[in-house]
Amino acid sequence: MSDELPQGDLTLRTMAMPADTNASGDIFGGWVLSQMDLAGGISAGQRAEGRVVTIAVDKMKFIQPVHVGDVLCIYTEIGRIGTSSMEIKLEAWALRHRFGHREKVTEAIFTMVAVDENGKPRPVPKAH
Ligand SMILES: CC(C)(COP(=O)(O)OP(=O)(O)OC[C@H]1O[C@@H](n2cnc3c(N)ncnc32)[C@H](O)[C@@H]1OP(=O)(O)O)[C@@H](O)C(=O)NCCC(=O)NCCS
Repeated sequence: MSDELPQGDLTLRTMAMPADTNASGDIFGGWVLSQMDLAGGISAGQRAEGRVVTIAVDKMKFIQPVHVGDVLCIYTEIGRIGTSSMEIKLEAWALRHRFGHREKVTEAIFTMVAVDENGKPRPVPKAH
């Protein structure tokens, strides 16, 4: 077992359910990606104080499978901020069998863009 610890803020926790499995009984990578997208949206939306969209998903690495009954914990950390864009570093960790040991299962870097009511890029406000 690794001594590595999650990096970033715990932004979302959810449980992997039987409906989220593929034919092999493992959880779909797309389900994990969508939970990470939700967490990235929460984190970026708070920083941008409003609506955001995902423009890019980079360096996505599925390190280990997720199983039914695992609690998926998504940690987020805001990296580089441009004019309208924000880099969000994401890590997904599984608490095995609801409360067992914790393992990093997926990592990625998403880019989210702050948008206005017309869906056009707007500047990310300065940090308070
Ligand atoms: C996000 C969106 C509004 C951007 O519009 P756009 O006219 O392409 O805007 P720009 O070219 O000015 O780019 C906006 C920012 O994204 C950055 N960007 C563009 N392409 C990028 C990429 N592939 N990776 C990382 N950043 C990127 C730009 O550098 C710019 O950053 P900055 O403002 O910090 O300098 C538009 O592309 C869009 O609506 N995309 C769909 C988003 C969506 O629906 N996501 C969910 C998918 S189901």
